[in-house]
Amino acid sequence: MTFRISALVAALAFSATGALAQSGDVARGKYLVTIGICEGCHSPRDSRDVPVPGMRLAGGRRSGGLMTPNLTPDMETGLGKWSEAQIVEALHSGRRPDGSTIRPPMGIFFYSHFSDSDARAIAAYLKSLPPINHPVERTPVTAPPREWPRVETVPEPNRADKLAYGKYLVETVSHCMQCHSPRVNGLPDLSRAGGGGNSYTAPGGGSVVAANLTPGNPDGIVKWTDEQLKTAITHGVRPDGGKMVAVMDFDLYEQMTPDDLDAVVGYLRTLKPVPVKRD
Ligand code: HEC
Ligand code: HEC
Repeated sequence: MTFRISALVAALAFSATGALAQSGDVARGKYLVTIGICEGCHSPRDSRDVPVPGMRLAGGRRSGGLMTPNLTPDMETGLGKWSEAQIVEALHSGRRPDGSTIRPPMGIFFYSHFSDSDARAIAAYLKSLPPINHPVERTPVTAPPREWPRVETVPEPNRADKLAYGKYLVETVSHCMQCHSPRVNGLPDLSRAGGGGNSYTAPGGGSVVAANLTPGNPDGIVKWTDEQLKTAITHGVRPDGGKMVAVMDFDLYEQMTPDDLDAVVGYLRTLKPVPVKRD
């Protein structure tokens, strides 16, 4: 509690003086939650697949067979009783305050690599949201849950190293490799990062396969310019003008800063070739 009050005081001091670095956290957290597409899974949608107004991050969307929990700080139905440190622990180690395990498709496999300060920024932002009372039933545990390693601390990525930071954005923050990498035992196989091949339900019905983003796909993004690649990621439009099936949250990726989008594209260009699967 003491910590929260001092954080609040720091935030107020910041808005008054613009001088305290500490309070940048909430803004950074908002950015990470946006380009980390948390709301892609944690915001409910209506029967036409449109986000329900006023319910951002309030949970209740079905994802990978599980219902997503309410991430707003409501005391009864959300994260109101969790401390920021407990939210960090959940992201890093996939463990709730009651000791239970958070299951996939929640991307602990990737989120365990959020730097301490980024994980704290996300926690601070979630705690700053208006609480929404929205009960969501937790999907019962039917199989022994996967045990995630306990992560104590993760250093800050070196943002001056554009390739390393691009990898951090693609793998840890923006969730790209959860969909675009083949899986082994249900977890992404990063030795074949970008190899694609996973099947997704298209919003209007039917299914669509996540593309192979590596140079092993001669008809893929190797043929596209950087600008074309950015348009595909942020608007879902291919170089020939065709629309991509809207499995990705293009509108959220559109909010990446130009520097971050450059870093993402730069990193995608370095993916190792994974041959296109033909069966
Ligand atoms: C692919 C869908 C998906 C995405 C993207 C996603 N989540 Fe989740 N998240 C889930 C599901 C499903 C659960 C519930 C897992 C379970 O029931 O074991 C969950 C659980 C959680 C929990 C535990 C809450 C509780 O009450 O148990 C937290 C905290 C959380 N997510 C935060 C986030 C944050 C922050 C982001 C973005 C960085 C995010 N999630 C992105 C699907 C997702
Ligand atoms: C929820 C799963 C999911 C996530 C997350 C995701 N993608 Fe995709 N992506 C897909 C699917 C499915 C397609 C195929 C769409 C189609 O064929 O119309 C696709 C297509 C693409 C394409 C088109 C490639 C081609 O050859 O046609 C690019 C580029 C791309 N994704 C990049 C990214 C990047 C970069 C990220 C992260 C910033 C990302 N994706 C995150 C599922 C995902």
